[in-house]
Amino acid sequence: MLIRDATVDDWPAIWPFLHDIVAAGETFTWDRDVTEEQARIMWLLDAPGRTVVAVDDEGSVLGTAKMNPNHRGPAAHISSASFMVDPRHGGRGVGRALGEEALAWARREGYRAMQFNAVVETNTRAVALWRSLGFDVIGTLPEGFYHPAHGYVDLHIMHRPL
Ligand SMILES: CC(C)(COP(=O)(O)OP(=O)(O)OC[C@H]1O[C@@H](n2cnc3c(N)ncnc32)[C@H](O)[C@@H]1OP(=O)(O)O)[C@@H](O)C(=O)NCCC(=O)NCCS
Repeated sequence: MLIRDATVDDWPAIWPFLHDIVAAGETFTWDRDVTEEQARIMWLLDAPGRTVVAVDDEGSVLGTAKMNPNHRGPAAHISSASFMVDPRHGGRGVGRALGEEALAWARREGYRAMQFNAVVETNTRAVALWRSLGFDVIGTLPEGFYHPAHGYVDLHIMHRPL
């Protein structure tokens, strides 16, 4: 697996699984009916943000991550990141590799911490992965997320100093 900067040429490979993940409404605080154009603008970031893809030996996109300042001005030293792995390639270490890449980027760029603003409590795979990468839950928004199967569930803010 190789992780490299994403280009607009990667978008046609990203959109189908990104769409499925957002439309499922289980993990992202995005409108479930987001259009392709809206999603492309929100996902493919210019500097100071960065978007990457994880690709296999044949160049197929396995997953993607975006990383960016979480805040501006006097709080611009806090970064954030978001992750989407094609479910056909889940559970094989792509998410972990993308998480490590985001942390390496944030350190390189001089951020002092990374904060995930909205990790759904029922997304146990993500919560376990971020904990194993050194993140703690520093706050929880009670019933901050409406899950299609579980109803109102909590949203965690997860943080790790760099
Ligand atoms: C969360 C997500 C990024 C994880 O990506 P992934 O490539 O499947 O994750 P990995 O294969 O690197 O596994 C990471 C950890 O998840 C856990 N995990 C893996 N497969 C699992 C499974 N089938 N069930 C439960 N936990 C599992 C393990 O703790 C694993 O850690 P390990 O490396 O010690 O085994 C991916 O599932 C995804 O894109 N989900 C939808 C969007 C999303 O939730 N994004 C994150 C929002 S905070």
